[in-house]
Amino acid sequence: QLFVGTFIDTPSAGELRIRSDHLLAISPEGYISHLAPLHSDSSQLLLSSLPTSTIPTEIPPHSFFLPSFTDLHLHAPQYLFNGTGLDLPLLEWLERYAYKAEERIDGSRELAERVYERLVRRLLDNGTGCVSFFGSIGVESNLILAKKMQELGLRGFIGKLSMDQSPRPTYGESSASSSLQSIAQFLDSLESYLSTYPSHERLVQPIITPRFIPVCSDELLVGLQKLAKQRDVRIQSHMCEGRDQMDMVMKRGKRDHEYWDELGFLGPKTLQAHVTYLDEEMIPLVKDRQVTMAHCPLSNAYLSEKQFPLREAIDNSLSVGLGTDIAGGYSPSIQTQMRQAVIISRMREGARCESMNCSFAESAHKEGAGNHLKVDWKESLYLATRGGKKGMGLGGCFEVGMEFDAQLIELANKDTPTGTGALDLFDLTSDTKLDDDSWTENLERWWCVGDERNRKGMWVQGRKVA
Ligand code: GUN
Ligand code: FE
Repeated sequence: QLFVGTFIDTPSAGELRIRSDHLLAISPEGYISHLAPLHSDSSQLLLSSLPTSTIPTEIPPHSFFLPSFTDLHLHAPQYLFNGTGLDLPLLEWLERYAYKAEERIDGSRELAERVYERLVRRLLDNGTGCVSFFGSIGVESNLILAKKMQELGLRGFIGKLSMDQSPRPTYGESSASSSLQSIAQFLDSLESYLSTYPSHERLVQPIITPRFIPVCSDELLVGLQKLAKQRDVRIQSHMCEGRDQMDMVMKRGKRDHEYWDELGFLGPKTLQAHVTYLDEEMIPLVKDRQVTMAHCPLSNAYLSEKQFPLREAIDNSLSVGLGTDIAGGYSPSIQTQMRQAVIISRMREGARCESMNCSFAESAHKEGAGNHLKVDWKESLYLATRGGKKGMGLGGCFEVGMEFDAQLIELANKDTPTGTGALDLFDLTSDTKLDDDSWTENLERWWCVGDERNRKGMWVQGRKVA
């Protein structure tokens, strides 16, 4: 498979790479095997080595390939009640809505099929090609999610929940040992299902998921950590999300991050959602252990009291991506999370300015030159693509050897010269040639006001999926 056109990605935070008139080749297994200027020797050599019938697909002008988005934190069964009850505090919201919905999904195969099919399609429509899911407790419903992902072409990780201390009598696991048996059964069943696919077509991986410390016994946590090591499986959970949750952990004698660390849970294969209370003391620990964090700005605005210190995380080169946290955050769109992350960082900056009684520029100056709290749109694009993927041991940009997981975005086309409807780019006519500066300007406009209507296709592992 060959494409000619513009490829835009973000290899590091804040770095926007625009490659126009490039030739990209995809191997039969779905990996990028070549990317160079069309008129370079290497591209011409590649083209001349192919049968003359092989014609590269030229993407329309004013269109570009961007890596698909990665959503590092989403509770799949909670899509059932997405957008409900968000004025409640976290722990009450969990009991009133989340546990109930998860119990319903576990109780009905038909409902799980319906909700998960809709969810997977909706995510692909929104440009998400890779997700780290929290599922429910039931083995069967998590396998249904795996099948939907495989069939519809969504990459990701499935976390069958482990929780032996549930406050809801009808939804939980009765003991650490039965919980450990159930997760082992899930790992085996998923492996057996995936073995019917050749390895490069396996889009789904399991991820061990103790829901959060308040609903897990020490015995269960120790067992899960051992299992993750034995089977070399990634781990995810919630860490330092909100005050009520952290207070519950304190009753067991330690701060949330200390608890996880003492049990050996913090490492390069660990993903922690939220970490809203990341502070100066925690940063060296998270950095040293190479933990990845899912920043969920919309959810934090409802279920946490404060916002994640994103600027500090990026400046300390911590591993961060974005998460929707459905249903804690109601939008399934990572584009919404990018915007929200930027808005919130600017509000943090604004709050600091107010406390210092000065302007944005003066506040950075007072704190030391360049010391801003705000984050820009290019940095958010990094988090949505490379940041999230890198944290999960995957690619996330356009480089030879990486999986081709991409979305095709059209800014405007020649039939509707002033935009596709989603974007009114009045200056863009069919013969406008975009240089790097005008690509950057138009990209920022798409980032601000674009939507699903600009998305003309999604590819996962080289296969067109939507
Ligand atoms: N902490 C434990 N469970 C959950 C959940 O389902 N959603 C959120 N946002 N936080 C949690
Ligand atoms: Fe969550």
